Amino acid sequence: MAAAYDGSVDTTLEDLPIRDDLRGQSPYGAPQKHVRVQLNVNENTHPVPEDVAEDIVASIRQALTTVNRYPDREFTELRESLAGYLNGGLSADQQLTPANLWAANGSNEVLQQLLQAFGGPGRSVLGFPPTYSMHSILASGTGTRWIPAQRDDEFRITPETVVAAIAEHRPDIVFLCGPNNPTGTPLDIETIRAAYDATDGVVMVDEAYAEFMPTDAPSAITLLPGRPRLVVSRTMSKAFAFAGARVGYLAADPAVVDALRLVRLPYHLSALTQAAAVAALRHAPAMLAMVDDIKQQRDRMVTELQAMGYRTYETWSNFVLFGGVADPHAAFEALLDQDVIVRDLGIPNHLRVSAGTAEETTAFLDAMRRVAADQPPVRVDA
Ligand SMILES: Cc1ncc(COP(=O)(O)O)c(C=O)c1O
Repeated sequence: MAAAYDGSVDTTLEDLPIRDDLRGQSPYGAPQKHVRVQLNVNENTHPVPEDVAEDIVASIRQALTTVNRYPDREFTELRESLAGYLNGGLSADQQLTPANLWAANGSNEVLQQLLQAFGGPGRSVLGFPPTYSMHSILASGTGTRWIPAQRDDEFRITPETVVAAIAEHRPDIVFLCGPNNPTGTPLDIETIRAAYDATDGVVMVDEAYAEFMPTDAPSAITLLPGRPRLVVSRTMSKAFAFAGARVGYLAADPAVVDALRLVRLPYHLSALTQAAAVAALRHAPAMLAMVDDIKQQRDRMVTELQAMGYRTYETWSNFVLFGGVADPHAAFEALLDQDVIVRDLGIPNHLRVSAGTAEETTAFLDAMRRVAADQPPVRVDA
C-alpha cells in the first residue's frame, strides 16, 4: 500500500542528495513562543503608531491597484526615501544619492546578495565572534569560507586586532558589526578605517542598531566618500519597528550596487513592501520616537542588573548582554515560567535581553530578581 504523503515515510535530510557542506547543519532561529514579555530577538517592542499605520495601509491599498504588474525592479522611490533619511545625519560632503542605496527583504538578504557577489566558493569572509550568528550562516549558504577571529577583552576590537587578523587570514571580505550583536559592543570608527586600509577586499559594517548609538557617535556611513570597497548595511527592523515588513538596505559606492544587481532575483522587493517602506520613511520621526525610551529602558536594565550582582557590558544597541548567570539554561526556563523570554546564546554564564517597554522591563527585572534569589550571580571573566 502506498504511504500517504504526510511525512510518515520518515525521509530525513540525510536521505536527500543535499550539498555535502549543508549536511548536519541546523537552521537559524530563536524559538517563536507565545510569551507575554518577548525580549529574545532584539525587536522594537513598541508598535507602529496608529496614524502612521493608517497612512502605510493607504499606500499599500494604492499599490494593490497595480499589483497585476511586476514592481519597479529598481525601487527608485524607496532608494530616494532612504537617501533622504540618511542624509539628514550627514554633512554636505557625505550626502548620498539613490545610486548609493540598495534594499532587500531584510538586511539578511542584503548581506546574502553581498556574499553572492563578492564571496562564494574559493573565497573567504572574516568575522569576529561572538557576533550576529547569521553572518556565518549566510557565509555557509553562499559557499564562502567563514574565518572566525578573536576579539579583545570585553568583546571589543581595536585597530591593531583587526589589522593583525586581516594580515593573518587575507580574507576577501571583512564583516564588522557595530554595535555588535549579541554583545552590544561599540565599533570604533578608527577600527573600520584601519580594516579598510589593511585589505584589498570588501569591508562590510553591519549597523543594524545604528539608531541606538549615542547621537554624537559617527556612523560608518561617514567614511564612505573615497572608499569604494566599504559597505554599510542597515535595517528598518529595529529602530523603525518594522521587523515584520522585512526591509533592510545598504549604502555604498554605486559600483557595489551594480554588483548586487548581478545576483539579486528580479523584482525581489514586492510592490507592497516598497509602498510600506516609503510610507514609513515619510514618518521617520514618529517611527523613531520610541528610540530614546528604549535606550532609557536599556540603561535601566544595565543599572539594575549590576545592582543584582550581574556583569554587564557597554551597549550601544537595544539589548544588554549580562554575565554571572550560574546556569543560563535554568535561568532561561525560570524566566519563561514567569512569562518572560530572553536569549540563551550558548555563551557560558551569559544571557541577552532586549530592552522592552517600561512595563516589560519591570516584568523582566522583577523576574530576574527571583532568579537571582534562587541561583546567586557568579563571577565571570570576559
Ligand atoms: C546585527 C544584525 N544584523 C542584521 C540583522 C537582521 O536584520 P533584518 O531583520 O533586517 O534581516 C539583525 C537581526 O537581529 C542583527 O542583529
